[in-house]
Amino acid sequence: MRVLTGIQPSGDLHIGNYFGSIKQMVDAQADSQTFAFIANYHAMTSGGKDLSKLTMQCATDFLALGIDPDKSVFWVQSDVKEVLELYWILSSFTPMGLLERAHSYKDKTAKGIAANHSLFSYPVLMAADILLFNSEVVPVGKDQIQHVEIARDIAIKFNNQYGDILTIPEFRVQEEVQTVPGIDGQKMSKSYGNIVNIFGEEKAQMKTIKKIVTENVALEEPKEYETCNVYNMAKLFLEGDNLIALQDRYKRGGEGHGHFKIYLGEVMWEYFREFREKREYFEAHQDEVRDILKAGASKAREIALPTIEKIRSVTGISY
Ligand code: ADP
Ligand code: TRP
Repeated sequence: MRVLTGIQPSGDLHIGNYFGSIKQMVDAQADSQTFAFIANYHAMTSGGKDLSKLTMQCATDFLALGIDPDKSVFWVQSDVKEVLELYWILSSFTPMGLLERAHSYKDKTAKGIAANHSLFSYPVLMAADILLFNSEVVPVGKDQIQHVEIARDIAIKFNNQYGDILTIPEFRVQEEVQTVPGIDGQKMSKSYGNIVNIFGEEKAQMKTIKKIVTENVALEEPKEYETCNVYNMAKLFLEGDNLIALQDRYKRGGEGHGHFKIYLGEVMWEYFREFREKREYFEAHQDEVRDILKAGASKAREIALPTIEKIRSVTGISY
């Protein structure tokens, strides 16, 4: 099975990115053909500030979090230019109405982000990313489902005209994680300023955790855990007995949310320890990271070439 995902290099990675997307990708390496790339062209749609630095930061983070270049094809989007060619070709198979209905575009413009063409045609580039590699499964967070559906619609339209050329992709959302809450209880997102970083400093991380919004309940009273933002973050890091033990602490009363926050901080710090150590290594060996990306891009291109050549041929672009 061929699994592909992209991540925008648009800032520090947060635990929503990890549980909603990266972890699924890392886990998929065990039994699938995995493709992971840094979507730097997509990042231009949101300003593209410090893009080159953020691309390296993102690559370093991904390698630290378990993307293994021996198991995955791992590259930077702009190193495989064929994706831009396919983007243009697919544009001719993309009805305006399909893009006008995209929630992500509507949400962004409603928030006051200038409605430029790249923001509008973002899903077409994403479709090109997916279809160029004959991806079968695209692991994403809930907010990206519609984009994968748009890629399917475009592929179907293309295939209706030219036959069975493009693989129709499916999205995969990990049910139990779906949307990771931010410190204010809304969806965790860089753009909402409510994130908990994966690779923050310990003190800063604790400070952020202390800001998580919780119910106002007296210390001795039992507390609801299902609706608690602290619990809903902690449960991502806990399993089995440890999770039950935390639920019991809520039910028992006698502890405040401050105690649960300290526990969350500790559990999270421990969970990412090994990743932090790996990150330090790659941070100190940036040339090695660049070499990995370039080798990944060659592999990705090689795999993409037969598909783009077939597309050029059926559309009459090659002559
Ligand atoms: P952000 O919303 O912080 O800008 P991105 O849009 O860069 O994050 O998302 C990168 C990946 O992480 C996508 O697959 C997205 O669906 C997933 N993701 C982001 N935030 C969350 C969240 N709070 N819960 C689950 N998955 C998320
Ligand atoms: N739009 C995705 C996001 O913001 C990133 C992305 C770009 C992507 N191209 C992709 C994800 C292709 C999956 C497949 O998270």
